Amino acid sequence: MSVEQRPDQRPEIEALYGEGQAFPPDPAFTAQANATAALYEEADRDVEAFWSRIASETITWSKPFTTTLEWDLPFAKWFVGGELNVAYNCVDRHVENGLGSKVAYHWIGEPGDTRTITYDDLLREVQKTANALRELGIEKGDRVAIYMPMIPELPIAMLACARLGAPHTVVFGGFSAEALAGRINDSQAKLVITADGGWRRGKPAELKPAVDEALLETPTIEHVLVARRLGDVAKGCSMQDGRDVWWDEIVERQAADCPPVAVDSEHMLYLLYTSGTTAKPKGILHTSAGYLVGTSYTHRMIFDLKPDDVYWCAADIGWVTGHSYIVYGALANAATGIMYEGTPDTPAWDRWWQIIEDYEVSILYCAPTAIRAFMKQGETFPAKHDLTSLRVLGSVGEPINPEAWLWYHEHIGGGRAPIVDTWWQTETGMILITPLPGVTTTKPGSATFPFPGVDADVVDSTGKSVPPGGGGYLVLKRPWPAMLRGIYGDPQRYQDTYWSRFPGMYFAGDGAKRDTDGYLWLLGRVDDVMNVSGHRISTIEVESALVSHQAVAEAAVVGKNDPITGQAIFAFVILRAGKEGSEALGRELREHVAKVIGPIAKPKFLLFTPDLPKTRSGKIMRRLLRDIAEGRALGDTTTLADATVVETIRDNSGTAEE
Ligand code: WTA
Repeated sequence: MSVEQRPDQRPEIEALYGEGQAFPPDPAFTAQANATAALYEEADRDVEAFWSRIASETITWSKPFTTTLEWDLPFAKWFVGGELNVAYNCVDRHVENGLGSKVAYHWIGEPGDTRTITYDDLLREVQKTANALRELGIEKGDRVAIYMPMIPELPIAMLACARLGAPHTVVFGGFSAEALAGRINDSQAKLVITADGGWRRGKPAELKPAVDEALLETPTIEHVLVARRLGDVAKGCSMQDGRDVWWDEIVERQAADCPPVAVDSEHMLYLLYTSGTTAKPKGILHTSAGYLVGTSYTHRMIFDLKPDDVYWCAADIGWVTGHSYIVYGALANAATGIMYEGTPDTPAWDRWWQIIEDYEVSILYCAPTAIRAFMKQGETFPAKHDLTSLRVLGSVGEPINPEAWLWYHEHIGGGRAPIVDTWWQTETGMILITPLPGVTTTKPGSATFPFPGVDADVVDSTGKSVPPGGGGYLVLKRPWPAMLRGIYGDPQRYQDTYWSRFPGMYFAGDGAKRDTDGYLWLLGRVDDVMNVSGHRISTIEVESALVSHQAVAEAAVVGKNDPITGQAIFAFVILRAGKEGSEALGRELREHVAKVIGPIAKPKFLLFTPDLPKTRSGKIMRRLLRDIAEGRALGDTTTLADATVVETIRDNSGTAEE
């Protein structure tokens, strides 16, 4: 049933899942918190004055801005007339302020090797690398593709580009040659920065062969800069004369002196491609000043960053979370960060907890998919380690099921550390909906409220605010500093994709509900909403109901075509370690959902599976699960993290019907 045909009395998306407990802030945390409730009032009084104050206080400008915002819907310009250099703001000024010996990154290789990079080190390496880029013909405005594992050369390469005013486009190291070629061609990059490979799950993962393959169809590339990580282990790393250059050879001989190039506030800092599921990837365009203001300020307030914190954002830098909260926002705040090369299960499922204990990590920011994977393994792994250094926990990337939130709270945060469930997107550049630790009373599963100055709403299909308690579409009604400035080379697509569904409002495809206390609950992508007998049911609510059963670690549900109800709910369920799937348990889980949120949401089909298809950033690919549920050929799988997973599920999917 389409939105238009829906009977008027039916909500856009049903709000079925009951709310659990609330967690007020600990007064001791509040007493020392960076954020205060007064920020909301300040921003409400005059949002431009609010951002103008922050921009003046937090950024070192080469030339001050004259106008805070020029808004020609949907095109925004922030801090107009200003000039700055992003790398200078992330590195040089901290060294000038006496923080040269402060650690910028504790880097941990998967095999156990480590490197410590101070701000002094970063300044030296960024300048030498920027000089090497110059030697390879890169000037202000040239695009540079970066395709690297999680090694220190990755943020160094990004900062070297920013130092020259050369926009980068980082392509996640797990993507294919085809994906890399597409992004290089769309951005017309001149240089690729890569590595021979990296370590993943105990094995070398080579990168250079994929670069060589991609470069067969990328006429704009002149050079390839190759960092050495695997050394002799990288059997497939051949260097093409005249085109390919080893990082250590060219960077080592450069002078550690490369003055930062001041750029306009609206100069392009980077492109980051979001993999559209069917259409050609979109080059999300971010610029310099607004992005840096938005990411650094949210980082300081939402994670309550203090000078002595050891902060770990466990995302990959190839994802926007890494751009904003491992590199730019974090470094602009002179944070000390952890960078870990490998996977959480190598050599064992307590690798992260070991790192937290060893480095006394105080802030951890990760994805619900990781939390659910840890939950599946059981609490004995974290229990073996001293995690008492942790004082703030964050979540990003997907709605977090209340059960996973509570597990995170108890087994990782010791029942003490506040959790910030942060909603945002590649397009938004910075966190937009989130609790403020020390200020906000949290509810497990809710991202709570818009950040100060952010105007978010939940609307029905006509763009009208839905009353409290209802579900609908999440929109943003006012520009924010780190917002995307467009889709590279395609202003029309920018307008059509984000600003046309609800005129005058930004819509990027998520459903949400607002409860009677005004809390926002993200309901997942509206494309994933199921329609059962005319009830529009969000996937996350049914999944959270399944995960609230003690046998379940993770669940994904999709709608399968059904002759009677339009769609029927098909659930894929991963059990916790030590639990066995059986017909009886399947029945029990269906009944459990019926009890928790109502019979309408009871899955008709249920399949136990050891794994789920996910994107590289850990999001469940429900589109492929729909293909499996319908028994049809799989659609595009290029963004899939592990292709064998769908085959395994498909082989078992015949036996699921109730
Ligand atoms: C989802 C990641 C619920 C959402 C920063 C969004 C979330 C998409 C949350 C963007 C959250 C991200 N709660 N859903 N806390 N955070 N999402 O571009 O569907 O990789 O639209 O950016 O992830 O994903 P992206």
